[in-house]
Amino acid sequence: MKPVKVADGVWWVGAVDWDTRNFHGYSTMRGSTYNAYLIIDDKITLIDTVKAPFFNEMMARVSEVVDPAKIDIVVSNHVEMDHSGALPLLMEKLPRAAVYTSPQGEKGLRLHYKQDWDFHTVKTGDVLNIGRRNLAFVSTPMVHWPDNMLTYCPEEKILFSNDAFGEHLASAERFADEVSLGVVEEEAAKYYANIVMPYGAQTQKALAAAAGLDIGIIAPSHGLIWRRDVPTVVGWYKKWSADQPENKAVVVYDSMWHSTETMALRVGDALERAGVPAKMCNLKTTHVSDIMTAVLFSKFIFVGSPTLNNGIMPTVSQFLTYLAGLAPKNRVGFAFGSYGWGGQSVGIVDKIMREAGVEMLDSVRIQYIPDEAQLQSLSAHVEQGVRPYLGTSQTE
Ligand SMILES: Cc1cc2nc3c(=O)[nH]c(=O)nc-3n(C[C@H](O)[C@H](O)[C@H](O)COP(=O)(O)O)c2cc1C
Ligand SMILES: [Fe+2]
Ligand SMILES: [Fe+2]
Repeated sequence: MKPVKVADGVWWVGAVDWDTRNFHGYSTMRGSTYNAYLIIDDKITLIDTVKAPFFNEMMARVSEVVDPAKIDIVVSNHVEMDHSGALPLLMEKLPRAAVYTSPQGEKGLRLHYKQDWDFHTVKTGDVLNIGRRNLAFVSTPMVHWPDNMLTYCPEEKILFSNDAFGEHLASAERFADEVSLGVVEEEAAKYYANIVMPYGAQTQKALAAAAGLDIGIIAPSHGLIWRRDVPTVVGWYKKWSADQPENKAVVVYDSMWHSTETMALRVGDALERAGVPAKMCNLKTTHVSDIMTAVLFSKFIFVGSPTLNNGIMPTVSQFLTYLAGLAPKNRVGFAFGSYGWGGQSVGIVDKIMREAGVEMLDSVRIQYIPDEAQLQSLSAHVEQGVRPYLGTSQTE
């Protein structure tokens, strides 16, 4: 297991998880990596660790650079177990090593591992000298948990950004400039949409704090390391965290006997007529975490469900629960669906989306199988509904 040199004396010693396809509910079709970084200085420092099953892989890489028993300091930027899982195994071998983390990080690590390690808490502005180099800490609460922080090494101009600027992407390459930028952008957007989206305001604060740093390399905790294209990934984060989606749509639906599906296809067609590109997301075939990537770029979120046993379909319920948690801002929604008698589904979808902060167009429900006149009326309703939200260039 070879370590990868990031700068003189700074090594990637993480692990590649080629096999993971489900990361706490997020579909990770390209796998992931857990990135740990080793700095060789007077005090030998490890920044973050890996998921517990990858402990041996990390240690094999560390051992190629230095005897792991010589590690003096472990910096824990984030408590979540994809980065701290290997810490108990590591600390068994390093009983005297110091653990530097945020105050919330210490609390979280104690609650996870019930160990009384030599904790040192740090906050924004604190600087730790490790010899020739310094490590400066910047607290970034809620990007992704309350304990998150960034570690910056001014001598190397490296920002160890943990979950920020990362993506779930297993690869043989370690640097973003070695792979297709389109693939990295897609996976970084998916990561932002599914992990970071609720914390747009906090992300903007973290970006403001990082703006004062001279950054040559961003070394995140998942996926690829940024050396040539730092402004590219920072630009993506600026754009995504501004919550100003494009005039695009996602049409999300499920259907038992195709009536709601027929409505969905007509809704998609109407959106295109209004000049709004629409991505069709059948919940039978599309994973909610992929839908969220499209939601990141889309102002319009239109959701269809037939009525099933006085309610909505479980797949639609699952999507709406996930959507409400990720709470995209500045979105316009629309609920539609077919029904047989009670017809509650459309009202339920509308209510959940309103409560999630989505501005809703008037909903439409159709009894049993829609006829052409009803579909034309649905189409006109959608076209008229979206027009006020489009720039004048797209209206006629
Ligand atoms: C298992 C099942 C349960 C249903 N429960 C209800 C219900 O409680 N209330 C209602 O209005 N319609 C109910 N329906 C009728 C459907 O909503 C109706 O057939 C609708 O047209 C189906 O739309 P779809 O083709 O998009 O699946 C039910 C249908 C099925 C198959
Ligand atoms: Fe995390
Ligand atoms: Fe993570």
